[in-house]
Amino acid sequence: MIPTPNLDHISSKDYENVYEPAEDTFLLLDALEKDAELLRNEIAPCISLEIGSGTGCVSTFLGKILGDGKAPNGLLPRLYHSVDIICCNPPYVVTTSEELYSSKSVIERAWAGGIDGREVIDKMLPLVDELLSDKGVFYLLLISENKPNEIRETMKNDYNLQSKVVLSRLAGREKQSILRFWRDIRQ
Ligand SMILES: C[S@@+](CC[C@H](N)C(=O)[O-])C[C@H]1O[C@@H](n2cnc3c(N)ncnc32)[C@H](O)[C@@H]1O
Repeated sequence: MIPTPNLDHISSKDYENVYEPAEDTFLLLDALEKDAELLRNEIAPCISLEIGSGTGCVSTFLGKILGDGKAPNGLLPRLYHSVDIICCNPPYVVTTSEELYSSKSVIERAWAGGIDGREVIDKMLPLVDELLSDKGVFYLLLISENKPNEIRETMKNDYNLQSKVVLSRLAGREKQSILRFWRDIRQ
């Protein structure tokens, strides 16, 4: 079992501006741990990337799985079709568009997702296609209100990305799932 990164140095004051790891964060950690052998041996990444890193808890955990020197890097144009692991726990909560775009507080922007909780997610998906390498995998946390099946269809039809649900869990009334996407490079 891989220990959860130690976050003791982050204070309650910090959490006024940075998303505090919660059930969704831990579901993503559990999905990555479940896939640890695949990530180490089959994907064997050169570059991995976390979108929306918050405390950095997920990236730190992924770095523990992969070993030194393989921690996620910053986003650069030169990463086109070269990122082997992308993971994202996005702002997914259903809100109005106004709540998303008029939000003054940084912490609200960490969870507010706009209509269907999809407004940030839908902007990110074309970027994932640009970044993901041929052998790459993309982990995305979604709740049922985000319409995961619709996202899977879009990713298949628009980008030829296959997908699978790695883990699902109830957190209060939220049904959270981690999806893994990868390129279908068969002709
Ligand atoms: C649900 S939190 C997840 C944080 C962290 N990855 C975790 O699992 O604990 C979503 C994160 O996405 C970031 N975020 C929100 N909108 C974003 C955007 N347009 N581009 C990049 N990151 C964004 C927020 O700042 C926040 O850190």
